[in-house]
Order: sequence, then structure tokens, then C-alpha cells
Amino acid sequence: MAADKPAGNMLWGGRFTGGLDPLMVAYNESIYFDQVLHRQDILGSIAFARANLKGGILTQEEFSAIEKGLLAVEQEWAAGTFKIVPGVDEDIHTANERRLGEIIGKDIAGKLHTGRSRNEQIATDMRMWLRDELRKLEEYLVSFLGVIARRAESEVDYVMPGYTHLQRAQPIRWSHWMMSYGFQFASDLERLREVIKRVNRSPLGLGALAGNPFGIDREMMAKELGFEGIIWNSMGGVADRDFVAEVMQWGSMLMVHISRWAEDLIIYSTAEFGFVRLSDAYSTGSSLMPQKKNPDSLELLRGKSGRAMGHVVGLMTTLKGLPSTYNKDLQESVEPMLDHVRTVGDSIRIAEGVLSTLATQPEKMRAALDGFMLATDLADYLVRKGVPFRETHHISGRCVALSEETGTPMAELSYEQLKGIDARFGEDVRDVFDYERSVEMRAAKGGTSKASVLEQVKVLKAMLE
Ligand code: ARG
Repeated sequence: MAADKPAGNMLWGGRFTGGLDPLMVAYNESIYFDQVLHRQDILGSIAFARANLKGGILTQEEFSAIEKGLLAVEQEWAAGTFKIVPGVDEDIHTANERRLGEIIGKDIAGKLHTGRSRNEQIATDMRMWLRDELRKLEEYLVSFLGVIARRAESEVDYVMPGYTHLQRAQPIRWSHWMMSYGFQFASDLERLREVIKRVNRSPLGLGALAGNPFGIDREMMAKELGFEGIIWNSMGGVADRDFVAEVMQWGSMLMVHISRWAEDLIIYSTAEFGFVRLSDAYSTGSSLMPQKKNPDSLELLRGKSGRAMGHVVGLMTTLKGLPSTYNKDLQESVEPMLDHVRTVGDSIRIAEGVLSTLATQPEKMRAALDGFMLATDLADYLVRKGVPFRETHHISGRCVALSEETGTPMAELSYEQLKGIDARFGEDVRDVFDYERSVEMRAAKGGTSKASVLEQVKVLKAMLE
């Protein structure tokens, strides 16, 4: 392989005499993706320089020059005028330091990295970036949950079939279905708040692996950068990408919930069910079949859950065989982290868009109910007359069979027919064949009665504060 660039050009090039294979240069560099960390990298450097000022490593003049220079570099990034030097700016850390040297001169800029390693730098940058992004995801999730809670409240009167094994099982409130996911997403919210705490700890000042030799004030830097504490072991701290894996585990769980939610809505939006209609804003047509309106948004939500899970599997596979402390394999945590956070964030916002524009068709929900779904209520009726449930289950089963044999809908079996099956049926058995009554009977906490569902909404809302 042609080695056309002497590695002596690189910031770390002092000991190198040979050149780098150009493909190796491209293979090694991370600037094309880790440049998103520019702000975090600059803020981290300023905090580091300030701590070295306190420790007497930098003079006040040197610190001021470094701070001013770093802010100028950040301005270039923000304005989109920063020019990456191909083949030299290996990553965001070296790029920023190279540019700082050009602005304030290499003599002072060369003092910035005293006692510091890129190993602690990348971990610091990633944690700061991730913390800020996770706070945005928290807002998205709270907003999505707000839509769920408000809709569950306003549409609490719609009754629809509840399914097990995707077979009609018992009548439920549409809002009860919504809240079933509401609480899954609320658990995701709780987990997220927990994860943020572990992400938001500072590795700055850990050095390459053994710690900082100049007595740097790590707590002061952590505070300046908004961390909630420091990482307590230098070797563990530079080796650690658990915080990324944990975010991906969290995100994967959330995406599993989103995927199942989407799957339900895809089914409910078919002509066969017709419980809901997706707004045009979240559907697309077919290039061939003019009549089609496809639930692409929901399909993408379901599909992207696979991608999110792939991120965790990929990263944990990268991590599992690594020897202690920093290894370049860890650079492979950055791109999946960026993709994961974007995928999850977009997914929450799309899910919110879908739900807030979704049209419900309560008459279709009601039409899908059938009398067999009240067979349990019929058994429960006899339970209230003192018959053991195991027996009532059997009796109700015989009513189902009679209904099937005679082709009479369950609710239309005559009193005489029922009485013929079991003498303990009274005239008031008529009341059982009422879907509204059925859902209202499930009034224990967590059930589908109106009061229970509205109580759930209250509990959920309290979690959003
Ligand atoms: N670009 C590197 C990364 O993302 C920064 C750390 C480099 N450290 C090193 N010892 N080469 O992991």
C-alpha cells in the first residue's frame, strides 16, 4: 500500500517515521461523524484549561488566550465555516486543537492538552452530548404521553373489542387500550430519568488510564460542565461505554413498545377492522394501485425498532472482548449512538403526530362487539347467585354452544332457552347482555370501567410533572 503521508504530520506523530496507508487514514478517522460533538469538545477544553489555571499549569494570560481562541473555533463550527483539513484532522479533538494553534499560536495552544488524553476527552464529549439529547427525548416522551392522556380522557366513552390471541375476548374501552400503552411508555420515561443520572457523570481529568498527574480539580470541571458528579476510577472511566449501551437498551425497550403500539394501529386501521383512520400526513399511496392509503408511518415505527435493537447488539458485541481501558474499538460506539438517538427521537415524535391526528370510528368499534364476548359476564352472573365459578364457566359454555347450534346470537337466546340450560338463571339475566354494563363491571383499580380508566389517566398525568 502506498504510504503518501508521513504520520509525523499528525498530532501524535512524534515517534513515527513511516507513513500511513491512505485507506488507513480514512479507516481511522472519526472527524466526519464526531464533529457533531464540537461544542461539547470546546466547552470541555475550556473547563480543563480553567482547572489547569487553578493548578498553576497555565498563567492567567495563557488561559484567557486559550479560552478566547476556543470560543473563536466554536464560532466557526456554529457558522459552518470551520475547514476540516483532510488527512490531518483525525477527530474532533485534534481538529479543534489544530485550529486553536492557528488562531492563538502553537506555543500557548500546545499547553492546553497538558495531562489530558483524548480517551477522557471523547468520553466527556459523548456523555455531555448524550445527556443533552436525552433531555430532549424526555420532553418528546412527556409530550407524547400528554396526547395519550388527553385522548384517553376525551374518548373514554368508546367501547370496542379487547383481544387475546387476536381473538375477540371481552369488551373494553378504547381509552383503556390507549392507557395500556400509556403505562408502558411511562415506564420508559421512568427508566430514561434513571439512565440520564448515570450518563451525566464526568470522566474529565482521568487521563489516558492512570489519572491526572497535576492534581487537577475534577469536581470543579464537572460542575462547570453540568455533570452531576464524577467517575471514580480512571481505568474504568476511559474504558466505559456502558452509558451508551444502557441508552440503547432503554431505547430498544421503548421501540419495542412503539412497535407493538404501531402493530395494533395497523390492524385497527384495516378495512376489516376500521376502528381508526390514519391522517394523510402520516400515510402514503401506492405507485400502482390508486385506491391505496398505506400506514407507512406505523410500518416505519415497527421497522425501525429492529434497527434500534441492532445498535445494542452491535455495541455490546464490540465491548465484550475488550481488554482493560481504552481500545480503538470504542470509537465504534459513536456512530451507532448518534443513529440510535436520532432514530428513537424521531420515532417518538412521529408516534405523537400519528396519534394526535388519528380519527377514531367508534361506531365501527361498537359494531365489532359480539354477544359471545359477554360469555364471561354470563358466568359471572351465576357466580353472583352463589354458583361456583368452575360450574358457571361450564354453563355459560353450553349457552355459547346453543347459540352456535341454533344460529341465534348469544344476546338473543330466550329466557326459556337459558332456563333450560340452568334453572338458576333469573329474568334479570337480560341485563347481562349489555356491553356498557360489562365494562362498568370491571371497576377494580386498573380495570376498564370509566372511573378506573379516568383514575389511570390521573396517575399517568402525575408522572409527567
Ligand atoms: N476518536 C477517538 C474515539 O472516538 C478519540 C480517542 C482516541 N484515543 C486514542 N488513544 N487514540 O475513540
